[in-house]
Amino acid sequence: MKTVFSGIQPSGTLTLGNYLGAMKNFVDMQEDEDCYFCIVDQHAITVPQKKEDLRRNTRSLAALYLAAGISQEKSTLFIQSEVPAHAQMAWMMQCISYIGELERMTQFKDKSSGSDAVSAALLTYPPLMAADILLYGTDVVPVGEDQKQHLELTRNLASRFNTQYNDIFTVPEVRIPKVGARIMALNDPEKKMSKSNPKAKSYISMLDEPDTIRKKFRSAVTDSEGIVAFDKENKAGISNLLTIFSLCSGDSIEQLEEKYRDSGYGAFKDAVAEAVISVLSPIQERWKELMDSAELDDILDEGAARADKKAAKMLAKAERAMGLGRQKRR
Ligand code: AMP
Ligand code: TRP
Repeated sequence: MKTVFSGIQPSGTLTLGNYLGAMKNFVDMQEDEDCYFCIVDQHAITVPQKKEDLRRNTRSLAALYLAAGISQEKSTLFIQSEVPAHAQMAWMMQCISYIGELERMTQFKDKSSGSDAVSAALLTYPPLMAADILLYGTDVVPVGEDQKQHLELTRNLASRFNTQYNDIFTVPEVRIPKVGARIMALNDPEKKMSKSNPKAKSYISMLDEPDTIRKKFRSAVTDSEGIVAFDKENKAGISNLLTIFSLCSGDSIEQLEEKYRDSGYGAFKDAVAEAVISVLSPIQERWKELMDSAELDDILDEGAARADKKAAKMLAKAERAMGLGRQKRR
């Protein structure tokens, strides 16, 4: 059995991109692997957050994981800040990271450009992510395309530590889905769908009402050809809709092309919307039940306890390897 770890930031509501690119795959993986799913609130505060919003988003994300099908019996679901080993290990990871390699991260460049108040933590975000992953002896990290570079850095840090101090870390593999790794914005299919995009029309939130979903798909940017066919280069909008449709309906892209080729974009977009609604509606119902329940707190308490037990062992090993604290007398 492999150890799987992944994290999602509780900053705003999750999008359909997060669901199709990440969460949906987590649900499948928990059947065969030892899975850890983390709500990375310490990553979220690398950009300013309102306290009340962060609290609510953290809870909401936990409820969404469960509503989407993550089960407490099969996986460990927990909040990053409730397991202190993450921040402790992140410090050690920062000590072996080079400023140059952190400055080369595209996410850092994107998030810091145009702002003159860039937090130091925006730069040291990847060492915290490496700490998350390495604490659990993780073999596989399922993420969307945008996290590939962070994973490469994590692998480098693990190997660097293993060579310089002691061979304690598993060098993790990244797993990017073949379809859905990069769901694009509805209003601009050249950009990834992201909850940080200020235009609500650009993304589908996992908590959007059916009518909102219908409207958003109707206004999705396509092309003027009028033929439903997959061609990422020349028909980015339609290709993105086909990807979403395929992942939500279970039909292959070829089957969908055949069925909708000449149906016109209007009818096609409505069909995509209905497929998305049928996936999201049951998740939303369960989310509502969980959101203010004591059950949610119990699950997160147990998750934190389980994660803490595992993480504390690796933290102790890393501290010993680096020479932190006193050597234990026998
Ligand atoms: P974040 O919302 O940045 O914390 O991302 C959480 C997970 O969702 C990561 O694994 C991302 O790679 C994935 N993700 C975010 N946006 C998209 C997208 N538009 N398409 C596919 N996966 C995504
Ligand atoms: N950086 C990731 C993102 O923005 C979230 C994340 C934090 C993560 N720690 C992780 C993902 C560990 C996978 C594993 O999407």
